[in-house]
Amino acid sequence: MAIDYSEKIPNNVNLSNDRTLQRALEHWQPHFLDWWREMGPHDFASADVYLRTATGVDAQGWATYGAVKMPDYRWGIFLADAIPERKIGFGDSFGEPVWQQVPGEFRSQFRRLIVTQGDTEPASVEQQHLLGHTCPSLYDLRNLFQVNVEEGRHLWAMVYLLHAHFGRDGREEAEELLARHSGDADKPRILGTFNEPISDWLSFFCFTYFTDRDGKFQLKSLAESSFDPLARTCRFMLTEEAHHMFVGETGIGRVVRRTLEVMKELGTDDVQALRGQGVVDLPLLQRYLNFWFSSSLDLFGSEVSSNAASSFANGIKGRPDETTQYQDHVCTDATYELETPDGKGGLQKETVGLRNAMNEVLREAYVRDCEIGLKRWNMQIQKAGHDFRLKLPSTRFRRSIGAWTNVPTDPEGRIIAREEYERRLPEWLPTPADRTYVTSLMQRVTTPGKMAGWIAPPDRGINNLALDYEYVRLA
Ligand SMILES: [Fe+2]
Ligand SMILES: [Fe+2]
Repeated sequence: MAIDYSEKIPNNVNLSNDRTLQRALEHWQPHFLDWWREMGPHDFASADVYLRTATGVDAQGWATYGAVKMPDYRWGIFLADAIPERKIGFGDSFGEPVWQQVPGEFRSQFRRLIVTQGDTEPASVEQQHLLGHTCPSLYDLRNLFQVNVEEGRHLWAMVYLLHAHFGRDGREEAEELLARHSGDADKPRILGTFNEPISDWLSFFCFTYFTDRDGKFQLKSLAESSFDPLARTCRFMLTEEAHHMFVGETGIGRVVRRTLEVMKELGTDDVQALRGQGVVDLPLLQRYLNFWFSSSLDLFGSEVSSNAASSFANGIKGRPDETTQYQDHVCTDATYELETPDGKGGLQKETVGLRNAMNEVLREAYVRDCEIGLKRWNMQIQKAGHDFRLKLPSTRFRRSIGAWTNVPTDPEGRIIAREEYERRLPEWLPTPADRTYVTSLMQRVTTPGKMAGWIAPPDRGINNLALDYEYVRLA
């Protein structure tokens, strides 16, 4: 169904046919706008930003581009088209028709899942509240704002489900989504990673590479859900999410390219020499990758989880690409082997039911996807003739959730003494000096086509426009 932009809330869910729901969402809308003004991009409300806006939900040509002031962005409710006769694709009810309403017995499970997903969307906007002030170019500034408005729309997507399917509790949860704030001492966001500040652009690129990719995998597994409105919402969100990861992958790739240029000019990989020229040395980048990768791994939850098992059994949350990637969609007899710490400094093998290991199955798929960018960045480094390689740390490293919580390991995943771990952390994670240095690089560049000295230009502009197009017209 086409998106109706004549309505106060643009939508393709026939909102005007349900007056009660429409009124409830129109009541929430000004609260959202207040939140955006207060917690969204600081100080850019009157800038004209070259943004894409959804105009349809099919793969081809779903977006239009044009200059928009962010508070006027048309946030709305867009579901991917329904698949006729869609059947439940996994779990105990495999093969039965999908649900258009939430079954009473799964209501609280669904609500918790939707609230948790919904909470991450505004959280990331809050984390990036001040980032616009130090943009390395107008091109990057525009990408930041594009990501921000779309995360705002993803909040709308979850709030629609809460309002449409969860009655009064849903409306209360929708208000709470605007009341919790990233990093707030009293009312923080639900998940740890979404309370980490993102105050420099290297962190932003790592976040969009690693943490938005967690979002991709969560959305892919929810896109398999038996609750059809949730599946359709997530399918459309995935089309928007792809750009966020593009920003991360190309952002880090451009940092690497710029560093390699300066390494060539100076004929050295000496860290102090490179820092003297204002670029990000590769060991520093590696420490940022270690930080954001390990933090994002926790978002998948514990390796062994009865919650994950019941989400799968009940048809709530499947595996990414459930239909095409797997043969057994019920998984009652299958098992999964994993290695966990034995509590005495060694390892033990454990065999668990596959349903209980679904978080780990998802995390493994995520790690494989993360490897793709590293291969590309390393290709650049190799071509430039250097032996240094970026790598993902072990999934055991610096974990705060699951079997490896607080088990000291090195980035290769070897269990080491606590004392050695503490002593060597500055080799592995950004140090205060690293952060101070990165912060010192964050100088705002707003001349069209110009880039800050620590990052190379992108290969091409947005929507076939030139690189020196004025992607953000500052007021
Ligand atoms: Fe999102
Ligand atoms: Fe995202």
